[in-house]
Amino acid sequence: MERGEELATVLSSQVSGDAAGVAVARTVREMAAAAAALSRLIGRPPLEGRLGAAHGGANSDGDKQRRLDMVAEDMFSSALREAGVAAYLSEEVEEPAILDETGALAVAIDPLDGSSNIDVNAPIGTIFSIFPMPPEALAEPALAFRQKGRAQLAAGYFVYGPQTSLVISFGAGVQLFVLDRETDLFILVEPQIVIPPDNAEYAINASNYRHWHEPMKAYIDDCVKGEEGPRGRNFNMRWIASMVADTYRIFMRGGIFLYPADAREGYEQGRLRLLYEANPVAFLAEQAGGAATDGIDPILDRTPHAPHQRVPFIMGSIEKVERVRSYYLDTAPPWQAAPLFGRRGLLRT
Ligand code: F6P
Repeated sequence: MERGEELATVLSSQVSGDAAGVAVARTVREMAAAAAALSRLIGRPPLEGRLGAAHGGANSDGDKQRRLDMVAEDMFSSALREAGVAAYLSEEVEEPAILDETGALAVAIDPLDGSSNIDVNAPIGTIFSIFPMPPEALAEPALAFRQKGRAQLAAGYFVYGPQTSLVISFGAGVQLFVLDRETDLFILVEPQIVIPPDNAEYAINASNYRHWHEPMKAYIDDCVKGEEGPRGRNFNMRWIASMVADTYRIFMRGGIFLYPADAREGYEQGRLRLLYEANPVAFLAEQAGGAATDGIDPILDRTPHAPHQRVPFIMGSIEKVERVRSYYLDTAPPWQAAPLFGRRGLLRT
């Protein structure tokens, strides 16, 4: 694998020659074509109306849908049908569906992440997670998405920003491609991304401070205290409110991303969706030498129970994610702890 190679060439060396490997390569090729087309659309003058204008509907999670959400949904569902994907789950659809009964793969996707950023010209993205298709899921498509994140064959995301890029892993490291807008080809610019271990930046929506549970407040308090606090160094905060953009920065220069559970109604399990946001980014993070947890346990060890379930999400350099874990273990996390049976309870389970 060499810098300057195009995606199709890298695909042939990265996936196995069996049916699943061939299907993964075809799926990624189709999604890359859809992402290039979406990137062109996003770059056009919006003379036919704002792409971020409300579409009128809401997705499975109650988020307002925008015009571009629906366009992206159409483009990626068509691409995945064309690729012969068996089971399909998207943020924009209520239930998983079968696209092709003969397919070898199940794909979970957020066709357009960060859609509140569309009209402010900030980066947005598409996140995807590719699993093998379990035969029993043909009769019950939801079963295709009950696999632990560790079973992912590949995962990645496209970012539509100053550059359109693809961060992807096939389970052997993480590669970065950038779209050449002249040729419409994704070109390899980094064959192995490694999350830098040391960086003094954290990403969190600090306006939720009053809703956070004690361990999260304590962790951020110690960062904010800077040189005068227990960490003995100054920190910087960044929050783009577009997970693809915040995590891209962390893959490039280190740091930590936090979307914890909090006390607001509907945020008892955080905000991000396990199947098409947390799982793929966690897979990439581990492949890039970083870590991703729900505060305590690795995201990739969770067995999903519902297509759109949320999960608290802490991702970044290993040392930072471990440090957050130590804060949670010090004061039992509210979503796991019952006084007797919680982690630090008398009868630890
Ligand atoms: O649902 C996804 C998302 O838009 C992420 O891309 C982003 O990190 C987060 O939500 C922003 O959430 P909030 O608006 O609560 O800061």
